[in-house]
Amino acid sequence: MNDAVRSIEYHGQFRLLRRIASGGMATVYEAEQTGDRGFTKRVALKVIHDKYAAQPEWLQLFIDEAKLCANLVHGNIVQIYQFEEVDGQFYMAMEYIRGVTLRALIDHHRAIGEPMPAPLAAYIVSRVCRALDYAHNFVDDAGNRLYIVHRDVSPGNVLLTWDGQVKLADFGIAKARTMRDPAEERRMTIGKKHYMSPQQIVGENVDWRTDIFSTGVVLFELLALQQLFREQETEAALDEVVIAPSPDLRRLLPDLDQSITGLLSLAIAKDAMMRPNAAMLGMSLDEWCAKQKAPGSPERLQAHLAKQFPTSYRPPSNTPRLEPPPPTQKEKSVWSKVFGS
Ligand SMILES: Nc1ncnc2c1ncn2[C@@H]1O[C@H](COP(=O)(O)OP(=O)(O)OP(=O)(O)O)[C@@H](O)[C@H]1O
Ligand SMILES: [Mg+2]
Repeated sequence: MNDAVRSIEYHGQFRLLRRIASGGMATVYEAEQTGDRGFTKRVALKVIHDKYAAQPEWLQLFIDEAKLCANLVHGNIVQIYQFEEVDGQFYMAMEYIRGVTLRALIDHHRAIGEPMPAPLAAYIVSRVCRALDYAHNFVDDAGNRLYIVHRDVSPGNVLLTWDGQVKLADFGIAKARTMRDPAEERRMTIGKKHYMSPQQIVGENVDWRTDIFSTGVVLFELLALQQLFREQETEAALDEVVIAPSPDLRRLLPDLDQSITGLLSLAIAKDAMMRPNAAMLGMSLDEWCAKQKAPGSPERLQAHLAKQFPTSYRPPSNTPRLEPPPPTQKEKSVWSKVFGS
């Protein structure tokens, strides 16, 4: 831990516990927010890399987006608590998620060669759609729509809690990631291109439809356990996403129910106007899910994570959700008084 980062411990009300990971733009720590008389709360701190914090225009855009997204409060969104500067270090405190990233779940399934159950994949993505629908239509206190766009829906930004909840992280941050670098007169794209829509890759002004495309790409990856777009170099990625014909999903996912393949192809349509909105996509996935023998649900996702990650699985509560224990004599007598026998 360098000195600048340590200063957050001394000046602010946070105690760093462990470095979780370092992404393209920031380092994420598990931390404790401390209050009076021993109050503590577990949070995640995202500390922006110095080289970005040192660029005022970039920083301003980042701060503007953080302010725009500060009031997004939704069960499927990782909540932002605070944004602060300490000694030139910029960091964001947010809800700490105990669980795994969707990236880790996909990689795990690929490593063991076992497909992800399709209803669980549909459940996860339908929750991402709920988060997007809320943000895309979010209005400020005066009732004005803010036109929030995530811009970076990708498996690393979908977090799964051990108890089977799905949370989309990093709202709005990607706008700063893809801004034009004033010094170098070129676009700085920090990080992944493989989930960007054609419109985003070519640098057009994008709207909510870009998030739908990325969500479709994520759903494909969950079902196929391989990336839909893989080119690394910018030119090749442009060709792959913008110029080449849309991938033939029926050929790539021959065993998948065609209603899901149909939905997927609409979500990743090159023509942004063809894409369904987040509410429609989420609802269609839910309807499909409900018709399955084992529909996706938080309980089923929890059980799935418990099975796939037995050594790291740490549910926040020990309630056995799938097989509740039989009621005790006392519970039975209380219930019979309340509900009758
Ligand atoms: N709120 C959170 N609670 C717990 N862990 C988190 C939280 N946010 C991020 N993480 C962890 O930190 C890692 C790094 O996150 P970060 O957003 O910096 O990078 P990323 O999304 O993986 O990729 P990128 O570099 O493109 O942003 C994530 O993969 C996840 O494991
Ligand atoms: Mg992230």
